[in-house]
Amino acid sequence: MRAVSIQKFGDPSGLAVIDAPEPKPAAGQVLVEVEAIGVGGVDAVVRRGTLGSYGFREGLVPGSEVAGRVVAVGEGVDAAWIGRVVWAFTGVGGAYAEYAVADAFTALPEGLSPVDAVTLGGAGPVAHFALAHGHFAPGESLLVRGAAGSLGIMAVQLAAATAGRIAVTTSSPARGERLRELGATEVLDRSAAAADEFDVILDIVAGPGLPSFLDKLADNGRLVAVGVVGGYPPEDFGMRLLASFQRSRSFATFSLNTVPESARHTVREAQFPAAVRGELRPVVHGILPLTKAAEAHRRMDEGEVFGRFVLTPQ
Ligand SMILES: NC(=O)c1ccc[n+]([C@@H]2O[C@H](COP(=O)([O-])OP(=O)(O)OC[C@H]3O[C@@H](n4cnc5c(N)ncnc54)[C@H](OP(=O)(O)O)[C@@H]3O)[C@@H](O)[C@H]2O)c1
Repeated sequence: MRAVSIQKFGDPSGLAVIDAPEPKPAAGQVLVEVEAIGVGGVDAVVRRGTLGSYGFREGLVPGSEVAGRVVAVGEGVDAAWIGRVVWAFTGVGGAYAEYAVADAFTALPEGLSPVDAVTLGGAGPVAHFALAHGHFAPGESLLVRGAAGSLGIMAVQLAAATAGRIAVTTSSPARGERLRELGATEVLDRSAAAADEFDVILDIVAGPGLPSFLDKLADNGRLVAVGVVGGYPPEDFGMRLLASFQRSRSFATFSLNTVPESARHTVREAQFPAAVRGELRPVVHGILPLTKAAEAHRRMDEGEVFGRFVLTPQ
C-alpha cells in the first residue's frame, strides 16, 4: 500500500511517499480502508523531531486519526463492524496510509462525512476535556491562545454555547473574523497586550510568551497548557505564579492521553451528531491527496491554515 513516512526530521521535504506492507489488525483492532486523514499541528511538531522523548523516530508513518470503512477485525472485535464507516485513532503514527489499524474507533452517524469526522474526532474531545480540566464554568471569561488551529476552533465553539466572554489570539485579522463567526467575542493579536484578565486561558502555544499570559489570569484564574506550537516556555516560568501568590492563580498541563478511551468515545458520540445537526462546525482548510502530504505540511508551516488539512488516499 502507499503511505507517507518521515524519512528525516526537520522541514516538510523529509516526508516521502513509500510502499509499505498493509497492516494486520491485532486483537481488539480494526483495519480501516482510509478515506480521510486529519493533518494537525501535532503532526508538524512530530515531523520536526522536537518531541524525541515521546518515542517518535525517523521512518515513522505519521498521523493519528483517520476515517474510512472497516475491512477486517482482529480477535475479540465483533465482525459486525466490517463494512461500517468509522473515525479511528491510530496512536503514535500510522495514519498517513491507504490502510490503518486502530483499537479506538467510533461509528460515523448518517450525514457526517469522513472528511468532517477527522476534523472533529481528535480535536473535539481535546477541547472538551481541556476546558473541563480548567474547570471552565458557564458565564466565565475565556482566552484561547492560538485559536486558529483545530483545537482552538473547537474550544471556541464549545465555549460559545455557554454565551460568556470568549477572546482569541491570532496573527491574522481574517482568521479573527472567522473565529468571530464561530463564537469569539474578542479578537486579540498574538501578544494579547491590550487585554485585561480572564478566568480561564487555554494555551495551545506555550513558548517564550507563556509567562506574560500567567499575568492575564484573574483572581483564582486557571491557565491550561494544551500545546507547544510556539516551543517550550522559559524554565523558570513558575516564578510568575509565585510572584502573584495572593491571587490564587493556577497553571496546569492537559493531555488527552490521561482521559480513558471510554470517556473520549462518549464525547465523540455526542459531538458527531451535534455536527450533523449544525451545532458544531467542522472547519476544513483544504483537501489534498495523500501523496501531497509534504505540501500540506509546508502550508501549515507557512501559517496559512485555518482548521484542518485533510489528506485522501486516491
Ligand atoms: N493536549 C492534548 O491532548 C493535545 C492533543 C493534540 C494536540 N496537542 C498539541 O496541540 C498543538 C496543535 O494544536 P492545533 O493543531 O490546534 O494548533 P496549530 O494549528 O498548529 O496552531 C494553532 C495556532 O497557533 C498560532 N501560532 C503558531 N505558532 C505560533 C507562535 N510561535 N506564537 C503564537 N502563536 C502561534 C497560529 O495562529 P495565528 O497565526 O493565527 O496566530 C496557529 O494557527 C500541538 O502542540 C500538539 O502537540 C495537544
